Amino acid sequence: MIIGALKENKKDENRVALTPESAQLLAKLGHKCVIEKGAGAGSGFPDVDYKAVGVKVLASGDVIKNSEALIKVNQPTSAEIKKFKAGQVLITFIWPAQNPQLVKDLNKKKVTALSMDMIPRISRAQKMDALSSMANIAGYRAVIEAANNFGRFFTGQITAAGRVPPAKVLVIGAGVAGLAAIGAAQGLGAVVRAFDVRPEVAEQIESMGGEFLFLDFDESSSTEGGYAAPSSPEFRKKQLECFREQAPDIDILITTALIPGRDAPKLWLKDMVSKMKPGSVIVDLAAEKGGNCDLTKPDQKIVTKNGVTVIGYTDFPSRMAKQSSSLYANNVRHLFDDLTPENNGKVVINLEDDVIRGALVTHGGKVMYPPPAPKVKAVPTTQSNKLLEKTPDQQKTEEAVAVRKAGTFQVGMLILGGLIIGLLGQYAPPAFMQHFIVFVLSCFVGFQVIWNVSHALHTPLMAVTNAISGIIVVGALLQVGSTNFVVEVLASISVLIATINIVGGFLVTKRMLAMFQKS
Ligand code: NAI
Repeated sequence: MIIGALKENKKDENRVALTPESAQLLAKLGHKCVIEKGAGAGSGFPDVDYKAVGVKVLASGDVIKNSEALIKVNQPTSAEIKKFKAGQVLITFIWPAQNPQLVKDLNKKKVTALSMDMIPRISRAQKMDALSSMANIAGYRAVIEAANNFGRFFTGQITAAGRVPPAKVLVIGAGVAGLAAIGAAQGLGAVVRAFDVRPEVAEQIESMGGEFLFLDFDESSSTEGGYAAPSSPEFRKKQLECFREQAPDIDILITTALIPGRDAPKLWLKDMVSKMKPGSVIVDLAAEKGGNCDLTKPDQKIVTKNGVTVIGYTDFPSRMAKQSSSLYANNVRHLFDDLTPENNGKVVINLEDDVIRGALVTHGGKVMYPPPAPKVKAVPTTQSNKLLEKTPDQQKTEEAVAVRKAGTFQVGMLILGGLIIGLLGQYAPPAFMQHFIVFVLSCFVGFQVIWNVSHALHTPLMAVTNAISGIIVVGALLQVGSTNFVVEVLASISVLIATINIVGGFLVTKRMLAMFQKS
């Protein structure tokens, strides 16, 4: 299939959906790529770089005319839609819920449209999740933008000229963008605090080096899909009280709070801005949806009367166009991986595939949005989840039955073992019986010891088994020169198996150590 990348026509958009690297990887799937002249210039990918990897550079009209699939970052313009042909595949951000007219127009053209914002958030689709890629960049860039507008260091320093305190950063909303912001601010040396309505993100905040602002309130706002649910008025009151306390203390505020499909909740009110120190900076990532701060103006930077800078840019990923284009192009390329199951350059729209079905907006003259719920759940039901679903009484009864069954089995085995040994003792010589009983006991003890070792301790366990294998090799070497043929064969087999165990153990240990070494 010929895949054509169009130049973005949205004002100030620097991103591009195809990079020279992704074009090479698409070629491995059997596709050919073409790109509109100058499409990659804003992201630092000049036309010559595309030509160098065999991508044809064409004029805009020619790209649409010659391609079977079109890739973009933003929604297509009406001029572009007019040129689309029936059966053409379109991959871009469509936001079908917010743009019903666009969906109708694409359907009229019988285009097969896949929306990057509709890729379901399931583990398998993470590599195609362009929303997360872009939010990650936005979170990082928000911190850089804040640092650029803040008149001090982020890190604390003790210098000959005096002591500099570290900047205090508050992040509201610890989703993808929020966590990236926490990591970036922490990396620059700031003291980072964060708040989210979902208490389960506390651990993630702390693992990124932030301090979770805990609200003593018995309410969780989590939904099944990992998004937040609207909080109660009482909770909101408590939350605002907490923010009001933070306002005079913090230097930087980064807000990312959002519930999909709703306007951004107003969380940083006018009076909180007025309580902030002059020189403080607010970066409102939710500006596109109205902003979390009362004073945010989308796409603008303003300075309040008390000297607080409020940044409401909505194009952070585009401000790091090379990075965001590389990640976005990779997300698109991974989607083509799914669309090209035979790696033969033929796109297959498999409606049974959760990812393809989820992203499909129009296909064959039919509107496919909204998709059915994915068959694969975002959080798979594990054995422990199933156990949790049972009542404590049910669990206790089941455990008691299991213990009783195991006990009966063990007694049965002991009686059987005793009978076999007794029977053998009637006929076998006493020397054999002595060795045999030691052998049986060592098997039993060895099995019990190894079976009960947790998986995390298998590496040190391997060191012990290596030592045992060494002893076996020494013993077998002493026996290998025996005059008895059977002993000779058994000793050789023992040397072989023990050696495999030792060499395998060393190889696995080497690989594990390599995992902890910095390249
Ligand atoms: P996400 O859904 O992963 O995270 C949003 C977080 O906000 C969730 O953890 C949620 O629990 C939390 N939240 C919701 N209501 C809250 C409340 N009342 N108080 C505290 N926390 C609350 O979303 P993601 O992907 O991290 O994106 C965050 C924001 O960044 C979105 O508004 C998105 O549109 C925006 N964004 C902005 C860009 C820009 O250039 N300005 C670029 C990319 C994303």
